[in-house]
Amino acid sequence: MNNVVTFDLCKNILRNIKKCLPAKISQYSVHEPNLSIKVKRELNNCLISTHISSSGKYIDKFSESLKDIIGSKYILLTNSGTSALFCAFNELDIKNQEVIVPSMTFVATPNSVIHAGGTPVFIDCSKSNLNIDKDDLEKYLIVNYKISNGECKNKKTGRVLRCIVVVHTYGEAANVNLICKLARKYNLEVIEDAAGALGTLRSNKHVGTVSRMGVISFNGNKIITTGMGGALIFKYKKDYESVKHKISTARIQHNWKVEHDMVGYNLRMANINAALGYGQIIDFEKILNKKRELYQRYCDMFSNNKYCYIKKSDNTSNNNWVTNLFLKDEFLDDHQTLIKYLQNHKIFVRELWKPMHLLPMFKKCNHSRIINAVKSWKTGISLPSSYYK
Ligand SMILES: Cc1ncc(COP(=O)(O)O)c(C=O)c1O
Repeated sequence: MNNVVTFDLCKNILRNIKKCLPAKISQYSVHEPNLSIKVKRELNNCLISTHISSSGKYIDKFSESLKDIIGSKYILLTNSGTSALFCAFNELDIKNQEVIVPSMTFVATPNSVIHAGGTPVFIDCSKSNLNIDKDDLEKYLIVNYKISNGECKNKKTGRVLRCIVVVHTYGEAANVNLICKLARKYNLEVIEDAAGALGTLRSNKHVGTVSRMGVISFNGNKIITTGMGGALIFKYKKDYESVKHKISTARIQHNWKVEHDMVGYNLRMANINAALGYGQIIDFEKILNKKRELYQRYCDMFSNNKYCYIKKSDNTSNNNWVTNLFLKDEFLDDHQTLIKYLQNHKIFVRELWKPMHLLPMFKKCNHSRIINAVKSWKTGISLPSSYYK
């Protein structure tokens, strides 16, 4: 690559990113918490109450706010998005079964499949966005699976394929309805990994509510953070009650007896973490608006850029958790230089998630011919996407 062009590309992109961000800040991360005085007040109330562990009013307050936002009756708070994912797969009981996972996701998705005893099978993302490619998935199912005795079986391994995970990647709504339709044809469950997608709607429905279970994360880099934390959304009361019991050490409800009826887990969110989340969620609409504004500024700024572009979503109600910028194909070789350059100027952009089928622990897992996810990874950068006061 021509050095003059590379230098111009770096300068151009730095200048345009800076124009979208507030000037007074000395450095920018991809996503950082913005904790207002309200958050500190709720946290302090929680400390004063001394209910900082597995019970307390903030667990109810935070869950009720989430139920309003998400529009679901059955929501459980967990101590991370990863544990919420694990609970979902554990509830389905995927032991010795296969699970379709998009290669473009965070490592927690396939990790949780493995922890619950399953085997991930990776599928490409689409060309126009980072969500699972329905056509690639369908082709892969036709070639590699057959229905036998009502179960979808891998023609080679003989293992049952149980479930498809739909990830709402970086907060952008995937078309779950299409995937659910395909899943019904093959007798498969669908789980939505909406870890970064709190506030994202598609066709007026909150993501995570279309399939049997959906997962949200409240890790420190999410729009609403509880430090670490997650939530599991259920379609069915039966799943909700079963998981609620399991993640609370399977303790039998009683005022003084301490008895358990199975080998349970302790994966609940603590009241102090819920207080942190509650202090932010009361301003959720304002936060979403700020994120929408920043996303719009990026889109306008890079709309006719000669070096790069933003993939415009077909869904207008995304939460814009993280905005990603992509270099045009001819500038692919400048990717690493650009990241270093921006970081040297205190814009701490990051690469996208390395596609899962390329990670050493998943190298032996089956996968489709993954082209789009690799290209997006090689050309994409996650821009500073926090909301500022
Ligand atoms: C797609 C996806 N799944 C799962 C997770 C895991 O959530 P947590 O970090 O809360 O465990 C994340 C976190 O970033 C994520 O982006």
